[in-house]
Amino acid sequence: MARLRFPESFLWGVSTSAYQIEGGAGCDGKGESIWDRFSHIPGKIRNQDNGDVACDHYHLYLQDVALLKHLGVKTYRFSISWSRVFPDGSGRANPKGIEFYRSLAHRLAHQGILPAVSLYHWDLPQKLQDIGGWANREMAQYFEQYARYIFEELGDVVPIWTTFVEPWVTAFVGHWFGTHPPGLTDLSTALQAAHHILLAHGRSVRAFREMAVKGEIGVALNLNPIYPATEAGQDLAAARRYGDFLNGWFLDPILKGEYPPELVSWLSGQVSLPEIEPGDMDIIHSPIDFLGVNTYSSSSVLHAPEEWPLQLAFASTGKARTDSGWEIYPEGLYDLLVYLHTQYAGIKMMVTENGASFKDIVDSQGNVEDDARLSYLRDHIFQVYRAIRAGVNLTGYSVWSFLDNFEWNLGYSKRFGLVYVDYATQKRILKKSGRWYKNVIENNGFNTQP
Ligand code: FCB
Repeated sequence: MARLRFPESFLWGVSTSAYQIEGGAGCDGKGESIWDRFSHIPGKIRNQDNGDVACDHYHLYLQDVALLKHLGVKTYRFSISWSRVFPDGSGRANPKGIEFYRSLAHRLAHQGILPAVSLYHWDLPQKLQDIGGWANREMAQYFEQYARYIFEELGDVVPIWTTFVEPWVTAFVGHWFGTHPPGLTDLSTALQAAHHILLAHGRSVRAFREMAVKGEIGVALNLNPIYPATEAGQDLAAARRYGDFLNGWFLDPILKGEYPPELVSWLSGQVSLPEIEPGDMDIIHSPIDFLGVNTYSSSSVLHAPEEWPLQLAFASTGKARTDSGWEIYPEGLYDLLVYLHTQYAGIKMMVTENGASFKDIVDSQGNVEDDARLSYLRDHIFQVYRAIRAGVNLTGYSVWSFLDNFEWNLGYSKRFGLVYVDYATQKRILKKSGRWYKNVIENNGFNTQP
Protein backbone atom coordinates (compact mmCIF):
# COMPACT_ATOMS: atom_id res chain seq x y z
CA MET A 1 0.00 0.00 0.00
CA ALA A 2 1.29 3.46 -0.87
CA ARG A 3 0.18 6.76 0.55
CA LEU A 4 -0.34 9.26 -2.23
CA ARG A 5 -0.05 12.83 -1.03
CA PHE A 6 -0.68 15.74 -3.36
CA PRO A 7 1.02 19.15 -3.22
CA GLU A 8 -0.32 21.33 -0.38
CA SER A 9 -1.90 23.87 -2.71
CA PHE A 10 -3.54 21.27 -4.97
CA LEU A 11 -7.00 22.42 -6.03
CA TRP A 12 -9.56 19.65 -5.68
CA GLY A 13 -12.77 20.63 -7.37
CA VAL A 14 -15.98 19.76 -9.13
CA SER A 15 -17.48 21.25 -12.28
CA THR A 16 -20.89 21.99 -13.74
CA SER A 17 -22.38 24.17 -16.46
CA ALA A 18 -25.30 26.56 -16.49
CA TYR A 19 -27.68 24.93 -18.93
CA GLN A 20 -27.04 21.47 -17.53
CA ILE A 21 -28.05 22.29 -13.94
CA GLU A 22 -29.72 25.67 -13.52
CA GLY A 23 -33.22 25.30 -14.89
CA GLY A 24 -34.96 28.59 -14.24
CA ALA A 25 -35.69 28.90 -17.96
CA GLY A 26 -37.24 32.28 -18.58
CA CYS A 27 -37.01 33.18 -14.87
CA ASP A 28 -36.32 36.74 -13.78
CA GLY A 29 -35.84 38.03 -17.29
CA LYS A 30 -33.55 35.31 -18.64
CA GLY A 31 -33.37 35.35 -22.44
CA GLU A 32 -33.52 32.29 -24.67
CA SER A 33 -30.29 30.45 -25.50
CA ILE A 34 -29.59 28.14 -28.43
CA TRP A 35 -29.97 25.18 -26.07
CA ASP A 36 -33.41 26.40 -24.90
CA ARG A 37 -34.44 26.56 -28.54
CA PHE A 38 -32.82 23.32 -29.69
CA SER A 39 -34.02 21.18 -26.82
CA HIS A 40 -37.61 22.06 -27.64
CA ILE A 41 -37.33 20.85 -31.23
CA PRO A 42 -38.92 17.38 -31.31
CA GLY A 43 -36.44 14.60 -31.95
CA LYS A 44 -33.28 16.50 -31.03
CA ILE A 45 -32.92 15.30 -27.45
CA ARG A 46 -33.29 11.77 -26.12
CA ASN A 47 -36.69 11.25 -24.47
CA GLN A 48 -37.66 14.82 -25.47
CA ASP A 49 -35.87 16.04 -22.35
CA ASN A 50 -34.90 19.69 -21.92
CA GLY A 51 -33.14 21.92 -19.41
CA ASP A 52 -36.16 23.99 -18.36
CA VAL A 53 -35.89 22.72 -14.79
CA ALA A 54 -32.82 20.45 -14.76
CA CYS A 55 -31.48 20.37 -11.16
CA ASP A 56 -33.34 23.60 -10.39
CA HIS A 57 -30.02 24.93 -9.17
CA TYR A 58 -31.19 28.46 -9.97
CA HIS A 59 -33.55 28.16 -7.01
CA LEU A 60 -31.62 25.64 -4.90
CA TYR A 61 -28.13 27.12 -5.16
CA LEU A 62 -27.77 27.90 -1.45
CA GLN A 63 -28.48 24.30 -0.60
CA ASP A 64 -26.06 23.20 -3.33
CA VAL A 65 -23.29 25.43 -1.99
CA ALA A 66 -23.84 23.83 1.43
CA LEU A 67 -23.35 20.45 -0.23
CA LEU A 68 -20.15 21.67 -1.88
CA LYS A 69 -18.96 22.78 1.52
CA HIS A 70 -19.79 19.36 2.93
CA LEU A 71 -17.83 17.76 0.09
CA GLY A 72 -14.91 19.97 1.06
CA VAL A 73 -13.96 21.10 -2.44
CA LYS A 74 -11.35 23.82 -2.71
CA THR A 75 -12.84 25.16 -5.92
CA TYR A 76 -16.12 24.96 -7.83
CA ARG A 77 -16.27 25.66 -11.56
CA PHE A 78 -19.61 26.78 -12.95
CA SER A 79 -20.52 28.59 -16.14
CA ILE A 80 -22.47 31.75 -16.72
CA SER A 81 -25.50 31.68 -18.90
CA TRP A 82 -24.82 34.59 -21.24
CA SER A 83 -28.53 35.03 -21.99
CA ARG A 84 -29.41 35.17 -18.29
CA VAL A 85 -27.18 38.22 -18.03
CA PHE A 86 -27.78 39.67 -21.51
CA PRO A 87 -31.18 38.38 -22.65
CA ASP A 88 -30.50 39.65 -26.18
CA GLY A 89 -26.81 38.76 -26.15
CA SER A 90 -25.77 42.41 -26.06
CA GLY A 91 -27.19 45.78 -25.08
CA ARG A 92 -29.13 45.93 -21.87
CA ALA A 93 -27.93 43.75 -18.99
CA ASN A 94 -30.48 41.97 -16.82
CA PRO A 95 -29.78 43.01 -13.20
CA LYS A 96 -31.39 39.87 -11.77
CA GLY A 97 -29.20 37.70 -13.98
CA ILE A 98 -25.90 39.09 -12.79
CA GLU A 99 -27.24 39.22 -9.24
CA PHE A 100 -27.67 35.46 -9.28
CA TYR A 101 -24.03 34.86 -10.19
CA ARG A 102 -22.82 37.48 -7.75
CA SER A 103 -24.68 35.82 -4.89
CA LEU A 104 -23.43 32.41 -5.91
CA ALA A 105 -19.81 33.57 -6.13
CA HIS A 106 -20.00 35.43 -2.83
CA ARG A 107 -21.63 32.52 -1.07
CA LEU A 108 -18.88 30.19 -2.32
CA ALA A 109 -16.14 32.60 -1.32
CA HIS A 110 -17.74 32.98 2.08
CA GLN A 111 -17.55 29.21 2.53
CA GLY A 112 -13.88 29.21 1.58
CA ILE A 113 -14.49 27.72 -1.88
CA LEU A 114 -12.73 29.43 -4.80
CA PRO A 115 -15.32 30.30 -7.45
CA ALA A 116 -14.06 29.36 -10.92
CA VAL A 117 -16.11 30.90 -13.71
CA SER A 118 -16.44 29.65 -17.27
CA LEU A 119 -17.72 32.38 -19.54
CA TYR A 120 -19.01 30.04 -22.20
CA HIS A 121 -20.23 26.48 -21.90
CA TRP A 122 -22.21 26.17 -25.12
CA ASP A 123 -25.35 28.25 -24.53
CA LEU A 124 -25.12 31.17 -26.95
CA PRO A 125 -28.00 33.66 -26.70
CA GLN A 126 -30.52 32.73 -29.40
CA LYS A 127 -30.68 36.37 -30.50
CA LEU A 128 -27.03 36.10 -31.53
CA GLN A 129 -27.66 32.84 -33.34
CA ASP A 130 -30.36 34.66 -35.26
CA ILE A 131 -27.65 36.84 -36.79
CA GLY A 132 -25.43 33.88 -37.67
CA GLY A 133 -23.99 32.72 -34.33
CA TRP A 134 -20.35 31.66 -34.33
CA ALA A 135 -20.24 31.60 -38.11
CA ASN A 136 -20.48 35.40 -37.91
CA ARG A 137 -17.20 37.16 -37.11
CA GLU A 138 -19.08 39.80 -35.10
CA MET A 139 -19.54 37.21 -32.34
CA ALA A 140 -15.95 37.88 -31.24
CA GLN A 141 -16.86 41.46 -30.50
CA TYR A 142 -20.11 40.56 -28.75
CA PHE A 143 -18.26 38.01 -26.66
CA GLU A 144 -15.63 40.53 -25.65
CA GLN A 145 -18.33 42.98 -24.53
CA TYR A 146 -20.03 40.28 -22.50
CA ALA A 147 -16.71 39.16 -20.98
CA ARG A 148 -15.78 42.73 -20.01
CA TYR A 149 -19.07 43.14 -18.22
CA ILE A 150 -18.60 39.92 -16.27
CA PHE A 151 -14.99 40.80 -15.37
CA GLU A 152 -16.25 44.15 -14.13
CA GLU A 153 -19.04 42.62 -12.07
CA LEU A 154 -17.30 39.53 -10.67
CA GLY A 155 -13.61 40.37 -10.92
CA ASP A 156 -13.43 41.18 -7.22
CA VAL A 157 -14.64 37.75 -6.08
CA VAL A 158 -13.64 35.25 -8.79
CA PRO A 159 -9.96 34.24 -8.94
CA ILE A 160 -10.10 31.56 -11.67
CA TRP A 161 -11.50 32.18 -15.15
CA THR A 162 -12.07 30.05 -18.20
CA THR A 163 -13.00 31.70 -21.48
CA PHE A 164 -14.47 28.74 -23.39
CA VAL A 165 -15.21 25.20 -22.37
CA GLU A 166 -14.59 22.68 -25.13
CA PRO A 167 -14.86 25.11 -28.04
CA TRP A 168 -14.13 22.14 -30.34
CA VAL A 169 -17.56 20.78 -29.43
CA THR A 170 -19.30 24.07 -30.15
CA ALA A 171 -17.57 24.33 -33.52
CA PHE A 172 -17.65 20.77 -34.79
CA VAL A 173 -20.54 19.07 -33.01
CA GLY A 174 -22.69 22.17 -33.54
CA HIS A 175 -21.69 23.00 -37.12
CA TRP A 176 -20.44 19.77 -38.69
CA PHE A 177 -22.00 16.77 -36.90
CA GLY A 178 -25.18 18.73 -36.28
CA THR A 179 -26.22 17.00 -33.06
CA HIS A 180 -25.82 20.17 -31.00
CA PRO A 181 -27.23 23.58 -31.85
CA PRO A 182 -27.24 25.25 -34.25
CA GLY A 183 -27.49 21.80 -35.84
CA LEU A 184 -25.50 22.51 -39.03
CA THR A 185 -23.63 19.89 -41.02
CA ASP A 186 -20.99 21.81 -42.93
CA LEU A 187 -17.30 21.41 -42.15
CA SER A 188 -16.23 24.69 -43.76
CA THR A 189 -18.72 26.59 -41.59
CA ALA A 190 -17.45 24.68 -38.56
CA LEU A 191 -13.87 25.71 -39.30
CA GLN A 192 -14.94 29.32 -39.67
CA ALA A 193 -16.91 29.13 -36.42
CA ALA A 194 -13.85 27.66 -34.70
CA HIS A 195 -11.79 30.61 -35.88
CA HIS A 196 -14.30 33.12 -34.56
CA ILE A 197 -14.42 31.35 -31.20
CA LEU A 198 -10.63 31.44 -31.03
CA LEU A 199 -10.73 35.13 -31.80
CA ALA A 200 -13.34 35.70 -29.11
CA HIS A 201 -11.14 33.79 -26.69
CA GLY A 202 -8.08 35.90 -27.53
CA ARG A 203 -9.97 39.17 -27.35
CA SER A 204 -11.38 38.35 -23.94
CA VAL A 205 -7.93 37.35 -22.63
CA ARG A 206 -6.60 40.70 -23.82
CA ALA A 207 -9.50 42.52 -22.17
CA PHE A 208 -8.80 40.64 -18.94
CA ARG A 209 -5.18 41.88 -18.96
CA GLU A 210 -6.12 45.39 -19.98
CA MET A 211 -8.65 45.61 -17.16
CA ALA A 212 -6.02 44.21 -14.78
CA VAL A 213 -8.46 41.70 -13.34
CA LYS A 214 -6.88 39.88 -10.41
CA GLY A 215 -6.69 36.15 -10.88
CA GLU A 216 -5.89 33.77 -13.69
CA ILE A 217 -7.45 33.08 -17.03
CA GLY A 218 -7.29 30.02 -19.25
CA VAL A 219 -9.35 27.86 -21.57
CA ALA A 220 -10.72 24.33 -21.06
CA LEU A 221 -10.21 22.09 -24.08
CA ASN A 222 -11.52 18.58 -24.68
CA LEU A 223 -8.36 16.58 -25.27
CA ASN A 224 -7.73 12.89 -25.70
CA PRO A 225 -4.67 10.70 -25.63
CA ILE A 226 -4.52 9.34 -29.18
CA TYR A 227 -2.90 6.10 -30.28
CA PRO A 228 -2.51 4.46 -33.68
CA ALA A 229 -4.49 1.20 -33.83
CA THR A 230 -1.45 -0.56 -35.35
CA GLU A 231 2.13 0.36 -36.13
CA ALA A 232 1.36 0.50 -39.87
CA GLY A 233 2.53 3.74 -41.44
CA GLN A 234 -0.95 4.73 -42.60
CA ASP A 235 -2.41 4.21 -39.14
CA LEU A 236 0.37 6.25 -37.59
CA ALA A 237 -0.38 9.06 -40.03
CA ALA A 238 -4.12 8.80 -39.37
CA ALA A 239 -3.50 9.04 -35.62
CA ARG A 240 -1.38 12.15 -36.17
CA ARG A 241 -4.14 13.66 -38.29
CA TYR A 242 -6.72 13.00 -35.63
CA GLY A 243 -4.38 14.49 -33.01
CA ASP A 244 -4.11 17.65 -35.10
CA PHE A 245 -7.86 17.77 -35.50
CA LEU A 246 -9.11 16.95 -32.00
CA ASN A 247 -6.28 18.35 -29.89
CA GLY A 248 -4.23 20.57 -32.15
CA TRP A 249 -6.94 22.64 -33.82
CA PHE A 250 -7.45 24.70 -30.66
CA LEU A 251 -4.21 24.05 -28.77
CA ASP A 252 -1.87 25.18 -31.53
CA PRO A 253 -3.47 28.52 -32.39
CA ILE A 254 -3.73 29.43 -28.69
CA LEU A 255 -0.32 28.18 -27.59
CA LYS A 256 1.72 28.39 -30.79
CA GLY A 257 -0.07 31.01 -32.85
CA GLU A 258 -0.78 28.74 -35.84
CA TYR A 259 -3.17 26.03 -37.01
CA PRO A 260 -1.51 22.59 -37.29
CA PRO A 261 0.30 22.98 -40.64
CA GLU A 262 0.02 19.35 -41.80
CA LEU A 263 -3.72 19.26 -41.26
CA VAL A 264 -4.11 22.63 -42.93
CA SER A 265 -2.48 21.27 -46.07
CA TRP A 266 -4.44 18.02 -45.84
CA LEU A 267 -7.73 19.93 -45.72
CA SER A 268 -6.92 22.56 -48.31
CA GLY A 269 -8.69 21.83 -51.54
CA GLN A 270 -11.20 19.61 -49.71
CA VAL A 271 -12.96 22.35 -47.71
CA SER A 272 -12.82 26.12 -47.38
CA LEU A 273 -10.25 26.96 -44.80
CA PRO A 274 -11.16 29.72 -42.33
CA GLU A 275 -10.74 33.31 -43.38
CA ILE A 276 -8.03 34.75 -41.18
CA GLU A 277 -7.56 38.50 -41.02
CA PRO A 278 -4.19 40.11 -40.34
CA GLY A 279 -3.51 40.21 -36.61
CA ASP A 280 -5.96 37.41 -35.76
CA MET A 281 -3.33 34.82 -34.92
CA ASP A 282 -1.52 37.22 -32.58
CA ILE A 283 -4.72 37.93 -30.70
CA ILE A 284 -5.52 34.22 -30.46
CA HIS A 285 -1.97 33.54 -29.26
CA SER A 286 -2.28 35.95 -26.28
CA PRO A 287 -0.62 34.31 -23.28
CA ILE A 288 -2.94 32.40 -20.94
CA ASP A 289 -2.24 31.47 -17.33
CA PHE A 290 -3.25 27.82 -17.47
CA LEU A 291 -4.60 25.19 -19.79
CA GLY A 292 -7.74 23.39 -18.61
CA VAL A 293 -7.80 19.75 -19.65
CA ASN A 294 -11.18 18.08 -20.05
CA THR A 295 -10.69 14.40 -20.70
CA TYR A 296 -12.70 11.23 -20.35
CA SER A 297 -11.36 8.57 -22.67
CA SER A 298 -8.74 7.73 -25.29
CA SER A 299 -8.84 7.16 -29.05
CA SER A 300 -7.37 4.35 -31.10
CA VAL A 301 -7.21 5.46 -34.72
CA LEU A 302 -6.93 3.67 -38.07
CA HIS A 303 -6.60 4.73 -41.64
CA ALA A 304 -10.00 4.63 -43.38
CA PRO A 305 -9.78 6.02 -46.93
CA GLU A 306 -13.57 6.08 -47.38
CA GLU A 307 -14.08 8.54 -44.50
CA TRP A 308 -14.18 12.06 -45.89
CA PRO A 309 -12.16 14.19 -45.37
CA LEU A 310 -9.87 12.96 -42.60
CA GLN A 311 -9.73 9.35 -43.82
CA LEU A 312 -9.74 7.83 -40.39
CA ALA A 313 -11.88 5.67 -38.13
CA PHE A 314 -11.78 4.43 -34.57
CA ALA A 315 -10.84 0.95 -33.46
CA SER A 316 -12.29 -0.70 -30.42
CA THR A 317 -9.56 -1.87 -28.08
CA GLY A 318 -11.89 -4.05 -26.05
CA LYS A 319 -11.48 -2.07 -22.84
CA ALA A 320 -14.40 -1.69 -20.43
CA ARG A 321 -16.71 1.20 -21.21
CA THR A 322 -18.74 3.67 -19.21
CA ASP A 323 -22.49 4.06 -19.70
CA SER A 324 -21.68 6.68 -22.34
CA GLY A 325 -19.84 3.98 -24.30
CA TRP A 326 -16.48 5.64 -23.67
CA GLU A 327 -13.53 3.28 -23.23
CA ILE A 328 -11.85 3.48 -19.83
CA TYR A 329 -8.09 3.89 -20.02
CA PRO A 330 -6.64 5.68 -16.97
CA GLU A 331 -3.01 5.41 -18.16
CA GLY A 332 -4.10 7.53 -21.09
CA LEU A 333 -4.53 10.47 -18.73
CA TYR A 334 -0.88 10.19 -17.74
CA ASP A 335 0.18 9.93 -21.39
CA LEU A 336 -1.93 12.96 -22.29
CA LEU A 337 -0.59 15.16 -19.49
CA VAL A 338 3.01 14.25 -20.25
CA TYR A 339 2.40 14.83 -23.97
CA LEU A 340 0.95 18.29 -23.33
CA HIS A 341 3.75 19.14 -20.93
CA THR A 342 6.34 18.23 -23.55
CA GLN A 343 4.61 19.74 -26.58
CA TYR A 344 3.62 23.01 -24.97
CA ALA A 345 6.69 24.03 -23.01
CA GLY A 346 5.71 22.86 -19.54
CA ILE A 347 2.52 24.90 -19.49
CA LYS A 348 0.63 25.08 -16.22
CA MET A 349 -2.44 22.84 -16.36
CA MET A 350 -5.49 21.83 -14.40
CA VAL A 351 -7.67 18.83 -15.13
CA THR A 352 -10.90 20.79 -15.41
CA GLU A 353 -13.17 17.82 -16.22
CA ASN A 354 -12.82 14.08 -15.73
CA GLY A 355 -15.49 11.59 -14.73
CA ALA A 356 -17.82 8.85 -15.86
CA SER A 357 -21.47 8.03 -16.36
CA PHE A 358 -22.83 4.78 -14.99
CA LYS A 359 -26.34 3.54 -14.34
CA ASP A 360 -26.91 4.45 -10.71
CA ILE A 361 -29.57 2.97 -8.49
CA VAL A 362 -30.83 4.15 -5.16
CA ASP A 363 -30.87 1.08 -2.92
CA SER A 364 -33.40 0.24 -0.23
CA GLN A 365 -31.36 2.19 2.34
CA GLY A 366 -31.52 5.25 0.11
CA ASN A 367 -27.83 5.00 -0.86
CA VAL A 368 -26.11 4.98 -4.22
CA GLU A 369 -23.18 2.57 -4.11
CA ASP A 370 -21.50 3.55 -7.36
CA ASP A 371 -18.36 1.46 -7.12
CA ALA A 372 -17.65 1.66 -10.85
CA ARG A 373 -17.44 5.48 -10.74
CA LEU A 374 -15.34 5.34 -7.60
CA SER A 375 -12.84 3.03 -9.35
CA TYR A 376 -12.80 5.24 -12.42
CA LEU A 377 -11.99 8.30 -10.34
CA ARG A 378 -9.44 6.54 -8.14
CA ASP A 379 -7.58 5.12 -11.15
CA HIS A 380 -7.55 8.47 -12.95
CA ILE A 381 -6.46 10.46 -9.92
CA PHE A 382 -3.64 7.96 -9.48
CA GLN A 383 -2.46 8.84 -13.00
CA VAL A 384 -2.67 12.53 -12.16
CA TYR A 385 -0.39 11.82 -9.22
CA ARG A 386 2.08 9.99 -11.46
CA ALA A 387 2.09 12.91 -13.88
CA ILE A 388 2.86 15.39 -11.10
CA ARG A 389 5.68 13.13 -9.93
CA ALA A 390 7.00 13.10 -13.49
CA GLY A 391 7.29 16.88 -13.39
CA VAL A 392 4.04 17.97 -15.07
CA ASN A 393 2.93 21.36 -13.79
CA LEU A 394 -0.58 20.41 -12.74
CA THR A 395 -2.32 22.51 -10.12
CA GLY A 396 -5.74 20.95 -9.74
CA TYR A 397 -8.26 18.26 -10.60
CA SER A 398 -12.01 18.68 -10.99
CA VAL A 399 -14.57 15.94 -11.26
CA TRP A 400 -17.30 16.16 -13.86
CA SER A 401 -19.71 16.49 -12.31
CA PHE A 402 -20.89 17.78 -8.96
CA LEU A 403 -24.53 16.84 -9.68
CA ASP A 404 -26.20 14.46 -12.12
CA ASN A 405 -27.46 16.72 -14.87
CA PHE A 406 -28.78 17.30 -18.38
CA GLU A 407 -26.29 15.55 -20.65
CA TRP A 408 -27.01 17.60 -23.80
CA ASN A 409 -28.56 15.63 -26.65
CA LEU A 410 -28.70 12.57 -24.36
CA GLY A 411 -30.98 14.36 -21.92
CA TYR A 412 -31.13 12.94 -18.41
CA SER A 413 -30.21 9.44 -19.54
CA LYS A 414 -26.59 9.70 -18.35
CA ARG A 415 -25.57 10.32 -14.77
CA PHE A 416 -22.11 11.77 -14.10
CA GLY A 417 -22.61 13.24 -10.64
CA LEU A 418 -20.89 12.65 -7.33
CA VAL A 419 -24.34 13.60 -6.13
CA TYR A 420 -27.41 11.74 -7.31
CA VAL A 421 -30.35 13.93 -8.30
CA ASP A 422 -33.89 12.64 -8.10
CA TYR A 423 -35.37 14.87 -10.79
CA ALA A 424 -38.96 14.35 -9.61
CA THR A 425 -38.31 15.62 -6.08
CA GLN A 426 -34.96 17.47 -6.53
CA LYS A 427 -33.60 15.42 -3.66
CA ARG A 428 -29.80 15.12 -3.66
CA ILE A 429 -27.95 12.01 -2.42
CA LEU A 430 -24.19 12.00 -2.02
CA LYS A 431 -23.06 8.83 -3.81
CA LYS A 432 -20.38 6.49 -2.51
CA SER A 433 -17.95 8.05 -5.03
CA GLY A 434 -18.76 11.45 -3.53
CA ARG A 435 -18.12 10.19 -0.02
CA TRP A 436 -14.83 8.74 -1.22
CA TYR A 437 -13.85 11.99 -2.96
CA LYS A 438 -14.62 13.96 0.20
CA ASN A 439 -12.12 11.73 1.97
CA VAL A 440 -9.50 12.22 -0.73
CA ILE A 441 -9.82 15.97 -0.34
CA GLU A 442 -9.64 15.76 3.46
CA ASN A 443 -6.46 13.69 3.28
CA ASN A 444 -5.09 15.49 0.23
CA GLY A 445 -4.65 12.06 -1.33
CA PHE A 446 -5.46 8.43 -0.71
CA ASN A 447 -3.91 5.06 -0.03
CA THR A 448 -3.55 2.69 -2.94
CA GLN A 449 -4.66 -0.92 -2.65
CA PRO A 450 -1.94 -3.38 -1.71
C1 FCB B 1 -18.00 17.24 -21.58
C2 FCB B 1 -18.81 18.50 -21.39
C3 FCB B 1 -19.71 18.45 -20.21
C4 FCB B 1 -20.35 17.10 -20.05
C5 FCB B 1 -19.31 16.03 -20.08
C6 FCB B 1 -19.85 14.64 -19.86
O1 FCB B 1 -17.61 17.10 -22.89
O2 FCB B 1 -17.97 19.60 -21.24
O3 FCB B 1 -20.65 19.48 -20.35
O4 FCB B 1 -21.32 16.92 -21.01
O5 FCB B 1 -18.65 16.06 -21.30
